Amino acid sequence: MTGNIIQLDKNGNLKHFLSTEGLSQSLLQNILDHAESFASVGERHVKKVPLLRGKTIANLFFEPSTRTRTTFELAAKRLSADILNLNISTSATSKGETLGDTLRTLEAMHCDMFVVRHANSGAAHYIATQVSPHISVINAGDGRHAHPTQAMLDMFTIRRHKQDFTKLKVAIVGDILHSRVARSEIHALNTLGVLETRIIAPQTLIPKGVEELGVHVYHDMDAGLDGVDVVMMLRLQKERMQGALLPSEQEYFQRYGLTSERLAIAKPDAIVMHPGPINRGVEIDSSVADSDRSVILQQVSHGIAVRMAVMAMTMGRSPDDIGETE
Ligand code: CP
Repeated sequence: MTGNIIQLDKNGNLKHFLSTEGLSQSLLQNILDHAESFASVGERHVKKVPLLRGKTIANLFFEPSTRTRTTFELAAKRLSADILNLNISTSATSKGETLGDTLRTLEAMHCDMFVVRHANSGAAHYIATQVSPHISVINAGDGRHAHPTQAMLDMFTIRRHKQDFTKLKVAIVGDILHSRVARSEIHALNTLGVLETRIIAPQTLIPKGVEELGVHVYHDMDAGLDGVDVVMMLRLQKERMQGALLPSEQEYFQRYGLTSERLAIAKPDAIVMHPGPINRGVEIDSSVADSDRSVILQQVSHGIAVRMAVMAMTMGRSPDDIGETE
């Protein structure tokens, strides 16, 4: 759906960040390296650098969010940008204003960047085609399609724990069918050269043709977890499910829930990830979610640094520019 023609400028630099699909390994590594530099900003006494001073960013969340919206806001503030949080439920959109008119209204306020979450796949891409050339668009999750900053913060977390992607076996477990996170993860893992990506789910929650993405499909959780380095759990996206795809949450937990016993099948140092929000007792047991193998809260923290990196890069700035601006 998303070509590089729209994501990159004529010099091959990131202009919009809409999908991990089709981006080069060096560009993804650049995002991770920049995020590594920005991570230290959060450890300073004054958690701020003046890299995007004078820029105005609008958070346009047409769907609920806790982690993504707030970490984009914090990332913008740490870069010294001004950020608007549009409350969609009280905005003119809820009074029938079209998306195009809302965008033009925000453009008239001289915004430089739109961070967009939308229930429709392709919404961020569409917006990127509609806005003035100086505006960058970052996809904060569109329908079932993509959630690229989530994927990159997950890659950052994996790299911090495991360093070399080429030696890793990664299992993604759960509702792959409705998951924009899973798609973005698979593209990023492929590009970063991971040894093997497995998806583990009931047949009803696996998209048709997923094998074409180079993943190995498992329906048996124990077989799929055998020897993996990273276990990524996914939430059942009930808000996107039409019809009865599962017998019951209890039965789902029995077959696909991550318990301490199941985790023992993975490598002894395997890490457990989840993009959140987590549903305890549905896809993950509390004994795992709260264990020292879980990096779920680290993922949230890393989201700030990774979003700082992406925001800076789409505005043509890098951590190397911090010296000039301070
Ligand atoms: N992982 C994620 O997108 O969480 P939120 O819906 O809370 O933003």
